[in-house]
Amino acid sequence: MRRGRATFTSRFGFYMAAAGSAIGLGTFWRFPYIAGANGGGGFVFLYVFAVAIIGLSVLVAELMLGKVTRFNVVGALSYRSWVGKSKGWRFFGILGLAASFVILSYYTIISGWVIHFVVQAAAGKFTRSDMSSGIVIDQLMAKTILQILLVSVHLIVTMSIVGRGVQDGIEKSSRVFMPLLFLIVLFLLGHSMFLPGAREALRFMFYPDFSRLSTMGLIEAVGHALFSLSLGFGAMVAYGSYLRPEVHLPSEAVFVSVIDTILSLCAGMVIFPIVFTANVAPNAGPGLLFKTLPVIFGQFAMGYWVALAFFVCLYFAALSSSISLFEGLVAYFMDEKKLTRSGATILVSGISLVLAVFTVASETSVINVTIAGRTMLEVADQYLINWTLPVVALGVSLYTGFKVPDDIRRQEFIDEANPAAVKLYPTWVAMVRWFIPALIIFAMAIQVSWFIF
Ligand code: TRP
Repeated sequence: MRRGRATFTSRFGFYMAAAGSAIGLGTFWRFPYIAGANGGGGFVFLYVFAVAIIGLSVLVAELMLGKVTRFNVVGALSYRSWVGKSKGWRFFGILGLAASFVILSYYTIISGWVIHFVVQAAAGKFTRSDMSSGIVIDQLMAKTILQILLVSVHLIVTMSIVGRGVQDGIEKSSRVFMPLLFLIVLFLLGHSMFLPGAREALRFMFYPDFSRLSTMGLIEAVGHALFSLSLGFGAMVAYGSYLRPEVHLPSEAVFVSVIDTILSLCAGMVIFPIVFTANVAPNAGPGLLFKTLPVIFGQFAMGYWVALAFFVCLYFAALSSSISLFEGLVAYFMDEKKLTRSGATILVSGISLVLAVFTVASETSVINVTIAGRTMLEVADQYLINWTLPVVALGVSLYTGFKVPDDIRRQEFIDEANPAAVKLYPTWVAMVRWFIPALIIFAMAIQVSWFIF
C-alpha cells in the first residue's frame, strides 16, 4: 500500500472509532439543548431528516475522499490526478482545519468540565442537600487555573492515545470505550424510562409540533447534522484514509449515521425525562447539562450512581471525539508538513492548550469578552456550526460530484453483493452534485439576508 499508511485492523475497529468520533459532546450536550430550545419534536424530526438526506451523503463523500487518496482533507482536496495544479479546492480543506482549531478551543474546555463533574459526582456532591442550580459550574467558571489544569489533563489523555497511532491508540481505545459507553447509556435509559416525567418527555421529543419551529431551527438542524457526524472538519476524511481497500463505503456510512442518531435520541430520552420529572424548563440552552441536570440527581433513589454513570459516559464521548479531532489535524501535519506522529501530536496539543487558555480567560470575570452580549464560546459555536461547516460540506460535495472520476466513485460506492447500492448510486451522485449544494446555498442565503437586514 502506498506510503505504508496505517489502517484500521477490522471493521469493528473502524466502526467503534468512527462512532466514537460522531458520538460526543454534540450528542449529549448540544443536541438536547438545541432540541429543547427549538421546541422538541418538530426539530428532532427535521434533524433526523437532515442526517438521512445530507449527513449520510456527505459522510460517504468524506470517507471516499480519504479512502481513495489516502490523504488528509487538504491533500485529498488537491489530489494531483483530479485537479492538476489547481489549488482552489484546497481552500475548503484549510477552512475545515481552521474549524477544527476553533472547535478544539472549546471542546477541550468542556471536556475538562466533564472531568471535574466526574470527580464531583464521585465525591457525592450532586446528591448533597445543599446542591443548587449551577453551583458547581459557576464555581468552576470562576477558577481559571483549575479550568486550565483540567484542560491539560484532558489534553494529556488525548495525546497519549493519538500519539500511539491508528491501531494501537485510536482503534484500541475506541474498542474499549464505546461498548462501555453503550452499556452506561442502557443503564441510564432504564432509569429514565421509569421516571414519572418519561411520558411527557417522549411526547415532547417525538410529537412533531411544527408550529414551534422557526427557519433558524431548520438551519440549526442541518448544521447540527453535519456537526454530529463530525463532517466538515476533515476528521472523517482522515478516518477514511485508514480504511482498507476492500471496505464498502455506503454500509460503513449508514452504520455510523444510524448509531449516532440512535445515541442522540437516547441522550434526549435520558435527559428529558429527568428534566420533566423535576419540572424544569427544557429550553435552558447550553446550561441544560451542566446547570439544570446536576440539581436533579439528588431527587432519585439511585442518584449517586446515575450522576456518576452519566458524567463518566459523557467523558468517554468527549474523549473519543477529541481523539478524532486531533487525528484530522495530525494527519494533515504528517502528510503535508512531514512531521512525525509524535511531533504532530505534540504540536496539535500545544496549539489546543494555547487556544483553550485564551478562551477560558475570555470567559472569566477578569476579562469577560463578550460580543453582542454573548460569550466567546457561544459565538464560536454559532459561527462554526451554522456558517463554516455548511461551506466545507458544500466544497466536499461539489468536489466529489464533479472532480472525482466516475469510475472511481462507482467502484467505491457499488458493491456487487449489494443490489441496493447499485440502485442508490445515481441518487447519491445527484445529491452531492446538485441537491446538497443547492440546499446549503439556500440556507446560507437566508442567513446572509438576516445578517444584512
Ligand atoms: N461529532 C462530535 C460530537 O457530536 C463533534 C465533532 C464535530 C467532532 N466535528 C468533529 C469530533 C470532528 C471529532 C472530529 O460531539
